[in-house]
Amino acid sequence: MNTRTLAADQPIGVFDSGMGGLTVLRALRAAMPREHFVYLGDTARLPYGTKTAATVQRYALQAAGRLVTLGVKAIVVACNTASATALPAVQAQFPDVSVFGVVEPGAAAAAEHGGTVALLATESTVRGGAYQRALMRRGVQKVQARAAPLLVALAEEPSAAPHIQAAIIGDYLSGLMHSADTLLLGCTHFPVFVQQIELQLAGRAVVVDSATTTAAEVAASIVPRAHEDRGEITLLATDGAERFRRVGARFLGEPIHRVELVDV
Ligand code: DGL
Repeated sequence: MNTRTLAADQPIGVFDSGMGGLTVLRALRAAMPREHFVYLGDTARLPYGTKTAATVQRYALQAAGRLVTLGVKAIVVACNTASATALPAVQAQFPDVSVFGVVEPGAAAAAEHGGTVALLATESTVRGGAYQRALMRRGVQKVQARAAPLLVALAEEPSAAPHIQAAIIGDYLSGLMHSADTLLLGCTHFPVFVQQIELQLAGRAVVVDSATTTAAEVAASIVPRAHEDRGEITLLATDGAERFRRVGARFLGEPIHRVELVDV
């Protein structure tokens, strides 16, 4: 087996602040079913979205470093907050690994629909302005951005009553959606609410996220694994492995059998 084949067999590393990035892993796996993936959820330190840029950058470098020790052939920074804040730092720290973020692909997905874009994201992502700049670069004239921190906790709490979910989502959408043509879900956790969001929008705007466009970008860039069999997923978390296993299935869209506890 030559070096290229060996490298192609290495997993793709994916990290997020928690289990929300499993929505991105789901899209990656759909686009590249033969690839092996190792996913790291930094559940011990979630949320990233309320932290300062310096802290998010430090956490992102540690998470990426952990994946590099596992011999990944590429890294996907599935966390929007980490992508918006720390992508250049991760790329600079690990120049031998291809590092992909979700902000540019997310902006591309939204810009494709044109018109005014409404962005729902974490506080840190909205404050940093990376999505707004990426959208403007792609010719979007107007961006309305709103932080929706409660949706992160809500997504991880499946026991929340439907009327509470509807009220919180409705509150975040109100005011944001008067003139928007496209709603960009700029946070890994939000796609689990897509049906509820679309119900409330009643066709007034198109809902997009970065998962599919990110997966397409990664699929076009990596050296693919040549084997015919389906690739494997290894799931790692920095805290609450059992909760991750139970609740994570909501994000991944398939049952989770095993989550390993790790330190970064
Ligand atoms: N993963 C984060 C993101 O996509 C959301 C959760 C958090 O605040 O850490 O921005």
